[in-house]
Amino acid sequence: MGFKITETVLRDAHQSLIATRMTTPQILGAVELLDDVGYHSLECWGGATFDSCLRFLNEDPWERLRKIRERAKKTKLQMLFRGQNILGYRHYADDVVEYFVQKSIANGIDIIRIFDALNDPRNLKTAIKAAIKEKGHVQACISYTISPYHSTEAFTKLAKELEEMGADSICIKDMAGLLLPYTAEELVKALKETVKIPIQLHMHYTAGTASMAYMKAIEAGVDVVDCAISPMALGTSQPATEPIVKTFEGTPYDCGLDMTKLNKVRDYFAPLRVEYLKSGLLDPKSLGVDVNTLLYQIPGGMMSNLISQLKQAGKADKLDEVLAEVPNVRRDAGYPPLVTPTSQIVGSQAVMNVLFGKYKQVTKEFRGLVRGEYGQTPAPISDEFRKQIIGDAEPITHRPADDIPNELDKFRAQIKDYIEQDEDVLSYALFDKVATKYFEFRKAGKYGVDSARGDRDAKVHNV
Ligand code: CO
Repeated sequence: MGFKITETVLRDAHQSLIATRMTTPQILGAVELLDDVGYHSLECWGGATFDSCLRFLNEDPWERLRKIRERAKKTKLQMLFRGQNILGYRHYADDVVEYFVQKSIANGIDIIRIFDALNDPRNLKTAIKAAIKEKGHVQACISYTISPYHSTEAFTKLAKELEEMGADSICIKDMAGLLLPYTAEELVKALKETVKIPIQLHMHYTAGTASMAYMKAIEAGVDVVDCAISPMALGTSQPATEPIVKTFEGTPYDCGLDMTKLNKVRDYFAPLRVEYLKSGLLDPKSLGVDVNTLLYQIPGGMMSNLISQLKQAGKADKLDEVLAEVPNVRRDAGYPPLVTPTSQIVGSQAVMNVLFGKYKQVTKEFRGLVRGEYGQTPAPISDEFRKQIIGDAEPITHRPADDIPNELDKFRAQIKDYIEQDEDVLSYALFDKVATKYFEFRKAGKYGVDSARGDRDAKVHNV
């Protein structure tokens, strides 16, 4: 039996290549073509798309989802969900997480891919339970990284725990493209021997090795891989769909997708690619192989953030020192995987250490990470180091969200004048100022105005 493909062009591909600026009209023009291909699922929502709709495009993300659902009659729709952070950058109360899951499924999502930056299962618990209650497919993630504390054994143990928590499938989420082909083979084999549920592999092409890793993973029995249609593939995006399909055609691994139908999808996105290149949204630099990923094992997006931070401080010449400091900071902080938000936290602290001396200045976020505000780190943090960073503050050892009282009623009261649909309170809960600005725009009747403009310098997070 062959493998299956999740097509990411409507979410991760444009998040990774064009700062999540694909508009709803551009998306809707493709949905019926995509629906006809026979993909395992279409990843089309969550991640940064929600923020981008409200912030840059003056669009309602919920309406985008409903319109995609109307047109995708046969294919499962999939979203990316940051555990207790939902689609935002802090921990939310359980009532917000539960309501968000409920409304995502009610508006058309079938599969919810849930991850936590630290791989702390306690941060996935509420979202998993809520998705089970709403009869959604729960895909729980292993955030892949490399460290002395991350081994095939540690990952299989985590997968087993996620299966026991009720996950319907497991995703190996390699946001930086660090998983090398032979390691992929070993990891997939071990996971297939450990859990009964399907295994999906998510990679970015950043390091130039992802399609080779897919090949080894497919031979090792991976059930689903994430690909992007060729005009929106490679570079910081996913491996291209068509070559993966063609590679296995006529073999026991044949995924059965029709190249003619895929070509119709390609024909739709090819002119859009040209448009994105012309407007500068698509930077040719993001299409190359990033050797730094292979050398330093850090995500591509993190490298550009480090460079811009150093430039701002007038210290661009310190990049090599910062790159050498990143692994030290990461070790001190218990080897977190480097993904939003930990990549920014570790990166900023490494910059501070180089500019001002080791931990002479500590960011609020780094202090929070060491204190346990984001959850349990993969490796224990030494008492001595913790004391150095947080002083006499009490470390947090329980689930961080236990400290957050329910928030929905408070949010509802705050935006009662703007509410036009139940979901508005969730948009506000996640992005208060940005959502309010959008609600005002909507109230003024400027709804649906095409606004392909936007802030091209916004940070790109590969997740
Ligand atoms: Co990704």
